[in-house]
Amino acid sequence: MSDRQMAFPSGFMWGTSTSGYQIEGGGENTDWYRYETKPDTIAVEPCDDACDSWNRYEEDLDIIESLGLNSFRLSLEWAKIEPQQGVFSKDAVAHYRDVLKACHAKGIQTVVTLHHFTLPLWVADLDGFENPRIAEWMGNYAKHVATELGDEIDIACTINEPNIVALMGYLLGVFPPEVRDRSRYDKVNEAMRASHFAMREELRNGPGTYPIGMCLSMQEYVCAEGGEETMEIIRSSMEDQYLAVVSDDDFIGVQCYTKIELGASGIIPATGEVTEMGYAFWPQCVAYTVCRAADVAGIPVIVTENGIGTNDDEQRIRYLEGALQGLAKVIDEGYDVRGYFQWSLLDNFEWTLGYRPKFGIVAVDRSTFKRTLKPSAAWYSDAAKRFPESFK
Ligand code: BGC
Repeated sequence: MSDRQMAFPSGFMWGTSTSGYQIEGGGENTDWYRYETKPDTIAVEPCDDACDSWNRYEEDLDIIESLGLNSFRLSLEWAKIEPQQGVFSKDAVAHYRDVLKACHAKGIQTVVTLHHFTLPLWVADLDGFENPRIAEWMGNYAKHVATELGDEIDIACTINEPNIVALMGYLLGVFPPEVRDRSRYDKVNEAMRASHFAMREELRNGPGTYPIGMCLSMQEYVCAEGGEETMEIIRSSMEDQYLAVVSDDDFIGVQCYTKIELGASGIIPATGEVTEMGYAFWPQCVAYTVCRAADVAGIPVIVTENGIGTNDDEQRIRYLEGALQGLAKVIDEGYDVRGYFQWSLLDNFEWTLGYRPKFGIVAVDRSTFKRTLKPSAAWYSDAAKRFPESFK
């Protein structure tokens, strides 16, 4: 076990997960904002003020504290910290320092993601993940974060879902920069891994001994007749090529929402109970993906995201209950899982789908930003206290 693995917070981490762009507001200096405000994209509305958490973070942290959750996963916006190449904003760093300190003042451990989907415009304008210098730039950014904020970080996640950024942005063309090209997609996946290593290196060199890992989007793939080959191809680029190279990381962040069935001609649309996102209602995916990640990567796991987009809060509770039942079972079997982070604290900006999907355990009024706890918030708070006993 590495020194950094020894530095995991003691006890199981219970938290909610968020990302800067989706809740803060003020994201105009990014590739995403440009994409959302450009005509003829599938993005339904711009992010604008999001949940105004840049100004209301104390309120958000009060909610987390009131729920008795001991951890919070948040992300830093690179576009705010380094708005122009090589120019670092003292104000943005001071702001994030205040947020992290406020977490600690409330007894909340900080799980900090450095890159969650968005790029500063200057990076996007220099070909983003296709520029041969991307790993160096992300490394420089990570170095700055490590130096300025490392002493307030309890867990660091380098890149959130590098596989989804590559898939949606470079193969399916539905995220910026809207590319559909298999060979460019493959190269971007390689650039993601190189960037992860560059960031990990810089974080390791800075103050602190916190564990460092990446967060991977994973699926429970199910094969219908004739789907085996397709599954191997998809799972290789989406999961295995990542899981194969992270054995020197301190943990792997698993993010899962559903199962995907594959047949001879590709994805078979979900049937049975289908969520508002069009996903199969399948909380069992947590146990499945945790085991797969641990078996293949051989390092501790944190469930860094899991949840459901629904207007039906009863359905959310049922989903979380199923997820935690599966988690209790695999922990009982001996899997090394260090924490669970429900996605998400707030109803927030769901990328191309805008504000329609509701992933939060807390509702946010779109005009006043008033936060209102849903029944699932109290349920989750209680579940964390009853775990694992009442989930067996
Ligand atoms: C992403 C989040 C997103 C969530 C729900 C994950 O893929 O990391 O940013 O909001 O799923 O769709």
